[in-house]
Amino acid sequence: MRISVIGCGYLGAVHAACLARLGHEVVGVDVVPEQVTALAGGLAPFHEPGLEGLLGETLGSGRLTFTTDPASSAGARVHFVCVGTPQRRGEYAADLSAVRSAVEGILPLLTPGDLVVGKSTVPVGTAEMLSERVREAQPEAELVWNPEFLREGHAVADTLSPDRLVYGVADVEGREQAQAAVKLLDEVYAEAIAAGTPRIVTDLATAQLVKVAANSFLATKISFINAMAELCEATGADVVALADAIGHDARIGRRFLNAGVGFGGGCLPKDIRAFMARAGELGVDQALTFLREVDSINMRRRVRMVDLAREVCGGSIVGRRIAVLGAAFKPDSDDIRDSPALNVAAQMQLQGAQVRVTDPKALDNARKRWPDLAFAETVADAVADAEVVMVLTEWPEYVGLDPVALREQVATPRLIDGRNCLDPVTWRAAGWTYRALGRP
Ligand code: UDX
Repeated sequence: MRISVIGCGYLGAVHAACLARLGHEVVGVDVVPEQVTALAGGLAPFHEPGLEGLLGETLGSGRLTFTTDPASSAGARVHFVCVGTPQRRGEYAADLSAVRSAVEGILPLLTPGDLVVGKSTVPVGTAEMLSERVREAQPEAELVWNPEFLREGHAVADTLSPDRLVYGVADVEGREQAQAAVKLLDEVYAEAIAAGTPRIVTDLATAQLVKVAANSFLATKISFINAMAELCEATGADVVALADAIGHDARIGRRFLNAGVGFGGGCLPKDIRAFMARAGELGVDQALTFLREVDSINMRRRVRMVDLAREVCGGSIVGRRIAVLGAAFKPDSDDIRDSPALNVAAQMQLQGAQVRVTDPKALDNARKRWPDLAFAETVADAVADAEVVMVLTEWPEYVGLDPVALREQVATPRLIDGRNCLDPVTWRAAGWTYRALGRP
């Protein structure tokens, strides 16, 4: 099937390559020329495991092309909208300008039977408004909302084998055109459906809410365990043992119960804020006041992490040499958007510490965003002569560090485990002062 993908960032680039891998003929369209040039040359503009291999394979097959020309979407039966919806500056609400202009750009190209598929995360109500625009431009074309749940670092696998497929369609019961739209999208995802992936057809509002509800739940789970960490700190209890113990209850589950410096990235923080803003517009802000607390627990972790560094340094970080391991918001990504690690590093630097940050993949992005911070290419350079080492992103290479060897490289063996990802017994046995949030 001929398919166009509008917006080739984290979501769109992976989606385009995966659709081509499934045998479709795909054109990816983006307004950023450098992004298009990189992708067309088989280079992923960001770190995502497996993406470059997939680009190489699908570009080579001739089924995948990238362009800046919106007119290249002409002739596609399905148009996927994968552009970003960042937080508006100084507000909680999402900026929908890219989604609006992506859809407006497709309208003149639509022919009867075409499908416009929204994948971007949007405030509920957006799809209804866009659906109206599609209907005005081409009454025999349909808009479906098909939210995306991929995680950075696992984007290729999540796209090829999703947990579930959600199609939001207006009045699917009574309209043949809507039913044809569902059938067409089933053809796009034929492989996943044949593999037994659950597929849920809903109205437009539900489909949009599914995405923000899922991200809000995940954020709540993380802030819940971080709130428990605060209780653990006040009582001398251990939040990791607590998470293990409650996680054995299948109704709770152990995943997304890792306490530490909290959540960041381009999705969770801005999605819960946009959700609160939308609830306010709908007059149901009380339903989501708890998300305000989820957000503040999360932001408090960053401040608490700096306080812990101060405590470990004996009351002041001024002039102290602190090595920060990790800049990305999570491992297997070079994404530094709202990264807790960089936020903590920058706060410490502003408060007078001599901070040196390292990361296996995110240094270039980090340098651009925080040019005043000092960066080191390797762990050895970052920790040389350090008085405190802080692990703030749990990259496997940091989790696997040898405490005995590392001890030789630092000035003082003090470790702060900001992700509760290291074994305190081993590190203490090697002579380190081990500290973490929520652990004795
Ligand atoms: C998230 C959702 O998981 C995904 O379904 C959605 O499509 C996009 O948003 P992503 O932003 O890639 O994906 O990251 P995720 O793996 O969810 O992690 C988000 C943040 O939470 C990271 O900063 C991570 O370090 C933190 N986190 C995660 C914790 O602090 N504790 C945990 O137990 C899990």
